Amino acid sequence: MNGPEPLAFRTHSADETRTLASSLARCCGPGDVVLLVGDLGAGKTTFAQGFAAGLGITEPVASPTFTLVREYPVPPGGARSSVEPVLVLQHADVYRLDHLAEIVDLGLGELVEDGGVALVEWGDVAAPVLGPGALSVRLVAEGHDDDLGQRTVTVTATDGSWPERWSVLRSVLGHPWAPS
Ligand SMILES: Nc1ncnc2c1ncn2[C@@H]1O[C@H](COP(=O)(O)OP(=O)(O)OP(=O)(O)O)[C@@H](O)[C@H]1O
Ligand SMILES: [Mg+2]
Repeated sequence: MNGPEPLAFRTHSADETRTLASSLARCCGPGDVVLLVGDLGAGKTTFAQGFAAGLGITEPVASPTFTLVREYPVPPGGARSSVEPVLVLQHADVYRLDHLAEIVDLGLGELVEDGGVALVEWGDVAAPVLGPGALSVRLVAEGHDDDLGQRTVTVTATDGSWPERWSVLRSVLGHPWAPS
C-alpha cells in the first residue's frame, strides 16, 4: 500500500471519539482537507464536534446535511494548530449530492485556501474531486450488545504533506490500537 502505515484507534464512547478528533485538529493547518468516512451513524458528525472543539470553536457543531457546508470561524485566542493558525473550519456533508460535479461546485479546495481547514462527511464519495492530498478518517461501528459505543477509527493518507507529518500525528494521537 502507498503512504505511511494507517493509524488505528478504538474508542468506546462519543466523548472518546471527540477527544481523538480534538487531538487531530491540533495537528492540522491551513489548507488541510480531512475526509470523514463511515456509514450512517458511524460518528462522522461526532468527530467533527471534537475537531471543532480542538480548534477552540465553542459554537455547537451540528450536521450540515441541509446546508451542505457550514463555516465556523476559529475565535481569536482559541486553541491553535501546531502548524500555523487555522482561521476557519469548513464542515461539509456531501451525502445528498448525486454528482461529483456538485461537489466540485462547493469549491472546498478554494475554501481552505484562506487559512481554512475542511472536514467532509462522506468524504470517500468526494475523494476523486478533492485531490490526493487529503487525510482520511474512517469510523466503523464494531460494538456488539455489550458495547454499542465502540468504534474503530482508522487514519490514512497517501499524499500531500501527510507522510512527512506522520510521526507527529502518531505521537499526538496517542498509542494506536493494534488489531490482533
Ligand atoms: N465511540 C463512538 N464514537 C462516535 N459516536 C458514538 C460512539 N459511541 C456512540 N456514538 C453515538 O453514535 C452516534 C453517531 O452519530 P453521528 O451523527 O456522529 O454519525 P454520522 O456518521 O455523522 O451520521 P450521518 O451519516 O447520519 O451523518 C451519536 O449518537 C453518538 O453519540
Ligand atoms: Mg453526520
